[in-house]
Amino acid sequence: MKKTPETVILLNFGCRDIQKLARLIRDRHIYTMVMPYTVNPERLLQEAPVGLIFCQDASENPHDAERGAFSGLGLPLFEIRLGDVSALESEALRAVDFCHTQCACSGSWKMENFIEEAIADIRAQVGSEKVVLGLSGGVDSSVVAALLHKAIGEQLVCVFVNHGLLRKNEPEMVQQVFARSFAMNLHYVDASDRFLDKLKGVANPEQKRKIIGKEFIEVFAEAAADIHAPFLGQGTIYPDILESIPLDGNPAAVIKSHHNVGGLPENMKFKLVEPVERLFKDEVRAVGRLLGLPSELLDRHPFPGPSLGVRHLGAIERDTLKILREADAIVTEELLKSGWYHKTWQTFAIFVPVKTVGMKNHQRTYDYVIAIRSINTVDAVTAQVVHLPWELIDSMTARIINEVDGVNRVVYDTTPKPPGTIEWE
Ligand code: XMP
Repeated sequence: MKKTPETVILLNFGCRDIQKLARLIRDRHIYTMVMPYTVNPERLLQEAPVGLIFCQDASENPHDAERGAFSGLGLPLFEIRLGDVSALESEALRAVDFCHTQCACSGSWKMENFIEEAIADIRAQVGSEKVVLGLSGGVDSSVVAALLHKAIGEQLVCVFVNHGLLRKNEPEMVQQVFARSFAMNLHYVDASDRFLDKLKGVANPEQKRKIIGKEFIEVFAEAAADIHAPFLGQGTIYPDILESIPLDGNPAAVIKSHHNVGGLPENMKFKLVEPVERLFKDEVRAVGRLLGLPSELLDRHPFPGPSLGVRHLGAIERDTLKILREADAIVTEELLKSGWYHKTWQTFAIFVPVKTVGMKNHQRTYDYVIAIRSINTVDAVTAQVVHLPWELIDSMTARIINEVDGVNRVVYDTTPKPPGTIEWE
């Protein structure tokens, strides 16, 4: 891949906030890459960096010996040592100043430029061959679809698998955006029955996840086999790569294992196209916006791969799955209407397979429980419960009980992470 000019490398000597630092500097239009201090200096020079920033937390030892190998490379050097909350933003600004004054960076890292370059790279890599892409409706694969489509048009074939565990109107929305608005070559595979049959009677969360994951690979592989594409598009993003590189140890080995396409049959050997692998999530969204993807798709809450499967506790039945889907849609509608959707990281409904006694229209009821969970987080490692306005919880509750048959009680999850995980299964 052609290298963006003006690369500044952040050398990680043990800096917890290194990804945030890299992002903050990129926000000022300077392209940063993060490398562990164990990187071979020759490998580092392959990126043709214009400057090097040593990064560490103030609490880490100074690693003087290891620094020596990089000090002699003839590159402008800078150092950042982050204290408790020692102003990440102001350190980032000092680094930006260093990039301009010592490394002569002009600030050319802009998503408009990235798109142009990525299109040229994709065309050079793919030539006249076909690329198959698994489209999930999530941000990363959607942006990759839009980028590949702009680069190679009809040569891109997207496969969208409906595994029956999607949110309300999701299959329709994906088809509307990609097949109709963008006129992409989209293979829609409705495998709902196949998944739901396999999941029948399975209550164990790990087993459910395994079935969904395995079935997904099989359905995708079957669809992809008919397309005969030598290339597979993937929505790998920069944090996926960074998080697979340990600070110590052999980074190359881990990158390699990340690049093995999880679970596809041995005889399906694809060459990978990963056009957003250098981007952070916000940059991926910015590219998506520039390519015309709707905010409805780009600014959605994160949604787990096993989808409603891990929000419907216990064994999944079609009728109880419908209850969850309807309740979840109401939660989302009310959040959007009240302006709270974009103030929370994830807010969703959970189906609790427990019946409680209640009253409706002067009749005794014995129906299921829906839980509502709303959290905010920076990195999903820890999370805080959002104090949604009580009136909003009231209106969600009233609508769910009135509009969703089979539910007579709604509860609000007040558990932070830890001790609770974000998902219930
Ligand atoms: P937990 O439940 O572990 O979730 O606190 C942390 C974040 O990861 C998402 N999540 C998943 N995403 N496949 C995914 O793609 C999964 O199996 C999965 N499990 C959890 C979860 O929604 C939250 O954002």
